[in-house]
Amino acid sequence: MIPQSFIEELKMNSDIESVISSYVQLRKRGRISTGLCPFHSEKTGSFTVYPESQSFYCFGCGAGGDVVGFIRRIENLEYVEAIKFLAQRAGMNVPEDAAEDKTALLKTKILEMNREAARFYFSELTKPSGKAALDYLLGRGLEPKTIKHFGLGYAPNDWTRLTDLLASKGFRYEDMVAAQLSRKSEKSGRYYDVFRDRVMFPIIDLRGNVIGFGGRKMSGDGPKYYNSPDTPVFKKTKNLFALNFAKKQKLERLILCEGYMDVIAMHQAGFTEAVASLGTSLTSDQCRLASSYVDEAVLAYDSDEAGQKATKRAIGLLDEVGIRTKVLTIQDAKDPDEYIKKFGGTRFKKLIEQSAGSVEYELSKIGKKYDTETPEGKIGALKDAVGLLAEMKNPLEREVWAAKLARDYGTTKEGILTQVQTKIKRRARAEGSRAISGTAQQNTFGGAVPEKLKNPASAAAEERLLGAVLRHPETLSTLSTKVSPEDFVCELYGNFYRKLLTTLSTGFEVSLTLFGEDFTLEQQGIIAKLAHLAREHQYSAEDAFEAAKTILRLKEKKTDKEIGELSGAELAAYIEKMRKAKK
Ligand code: CTP
Ligand code: MN
Repeated sequence: MIPQSFIEELKMNSDIESVISSYVQLRKRGRISTGLCPFHSEKTGSFTVYPESQSFYCFGCGAGGDVVGFIRRIENLEYVEAIKFLAQRAGMNVPEDAAEDKTALLKTKILEMNREAARFYFSELTKPSGKAALDYLLGRGLEPKTIKHFGLGYAPNDWTRLTDLLASKGFRYEDMVAAQLSRKSEKSGRYYDVFRDRVMFPIIDLRGNVIGFGGRKMSGDGPKYYNSPDTPVFKKTKNLFALNFAKKQKLERLILCEGYMDVIAMHQAGFTEAVASLGTSLTSDQCRLASSYVDEAVLAYDSDEAGQKATKRAIGLLDEVGIRTKVLTIQDAKDPDEYIKKFGGTRFKKLIEQSAGSVEYELSKIGKKYDTETPEGKIGALKDAVGLLAEMKNPLEREVWAAKLARDYGTTKEGILTQVQTKIKRRARAEGSRAISGTAQQNTFGGAVPEKLKNPASAAAEERLLGAVLRHPETLSTLSTKVSPEDFVCELYGNFYRKLLTTLSTGFEVSLTLFGEDFTLEQQGIIAKLAHLAREHQYSAEDAFEAAKTILRLKEKKTDKEIGELSGAELAAYIEKMRKAKK
C-alpha cells in the first residue's frame, strides 16, 4: 500500500497538463486544453484536459480520469507501476514495504539478466559457432539491419555458456532460475542453460525491457519453438510481440498474426504495425491492450484450418473490446512471411487493401461451403447467412448485407430480413433474460451500471449527486447525514459515494485521484464522465441536496405490487410520506 499522503504529494508534483503534453499536442482554450485523443483515432480534438480539477476526459471514447489514470492507460501500467512511473518523473522516492522491495529487486535482477542474455545471444551470431544460425536467418530473407533491429541471436549448442556468463557477472543461480534462463539438474545439482542451439527472439515490452525469449530450433525433432514460461516480469497472455516497435508511430490499425517470423518479415517489408500473440491463442487481455492503441485490426493468420479457426475466434474477442476487424485471405502461401517472400511487399500491401471486413469474410466462407449452383445449396447458404445477419446488432448493417445477399442469391431483401427477424426473436426467446441484459449493455455505461436500465430515475439522481459533490465537495459533510451509500440503487454509484465519504473522514481532498486505487479504468472513466457532465450543466451545491432528496423519495416509492399488499393504515402513512418528500 502506498500512503495516500504520498499520492497527494506526487499529484502536486505531476501537473496533468505538463504530463499529458509529452504525449498529446495540447492547445489552450480558455481554462481548458484540448487535443487529439491518444486512446482512439480521431480527426477532431475531443480530448479535453481540465487543469482546475487536474483531470481529463474524451468526448469521443469516454476515456477519462486523473493523471495516474492517464499514465495507466497510455503506458499500459498497473496502478502501483503508474505511481512509480510518475514518481520517477517527479524525482520522488516511493515508500515501499520490505516484501514489495524484495519482489521489485528480483524483477530488476531478472530484467538485467535478460538484457545480458539478449546481448550474449546477439553477439554469438558473429562468432564461427553461430555462423549456421546467422546463415539460417539470412537464408530466411532477413537483412542484417532487421536482425539487429529485433535483436535476434543464437543460443549456442552448449550446456552452461549463459549460466556461466551470468554467474561471472555476479548473478545468483536462484535468480537465473526465476528468470527461466537456467535450470537446476536434479542429478548433479548443477545449473544449465534453458535455451540451447536455438535462434533467439527477444520479447520486449513497451518500456524497452527484455521480458522473455522465444527460441526456434533450426533442425531436428521436438517442438519447433520454445518460449520463456511466465516469470515475475513476463506474462505471456498480456503482451504482444513487437508492440514496442509498432507503437512508435501514430497507429491507425494493427496487423495481428501468429508468428515471430511473420511479424519480422512484415516489419522488414514496411508493415511496422504488425504484432503477434506469443505462442498462445489471442487472449482478451491482449485485445484490451490493443484497444488502447487502435480500433481496427487486420487479421493475418495462417491460411491453414487452424489459422482460420483462430481468425474466427479473434474476430469475436476483438469485437468485445470494440475493435473492428478485417481479414486477410492469403492464397498460395501458408503465412504472411511465406507470402511476402514469394510475392513481395507490394503484393502484400494490395492484399491488405483488399482485405475483407469480417462479415464479407464469413459470407465468402459460407458461399464456398455449399454448391450454390443447386437450389439445395442456395437454401443452405442462405440459411447460414441469415444466422450470421441475426447476430448483427445494428439494423442498418443487417439491411445492407441483406441487400447484397439478395443480389448474390437472386432473392428479395425483404424475404431475407423477415427470416432474420424470425431468427432474432427465436434466439431472444431461447436466451430469455440474457437478452434483456444485452440491451442494458448498450446503455450509456455498459455493463458497469446494470441497475440503470430498470431504475433510470434513481440512476439519474445518483449521477447528479455525485457530479455535484465533485464540484462542491463542501456539501459532503452535510450530505452524509442525509443519504448513505446503502440508499443508492446503483451499486457502483453507491461505491463511489462511499469512497467520497471515507475521504471526508480522512481529510483528503476530493478529486478523481481518489478513485484510482479501488476502481477499474472503465469505472474511473465513468466517474470522470460524471464530473464532466457536472461541469457542463454547472451543477450547484443545491443540486446535490435536491438529488439526495430524489434518491430518498424514489427509494421509499413502492412498486404497484407492493402497494397492493399494504393495509389501509400503511397505505395512508405511505401516501403522507410521499407527499412530504415531494416538498
Ligand atoms: N509456436 C510455439 N510453439 C510451437 C510452435 C509454434 O510457441 N511449438 C508459436 C510461435 O510463437 C510461432 C507461432 O506459434 O511463431 C506460429 O507457429 P508456426 O505457424 O508453426 O510457425 P511459423 O511462425 O510459421 O514459424 P516458422 O516460419 O519459423 O516456421
Ligand atoms: Mn512461417
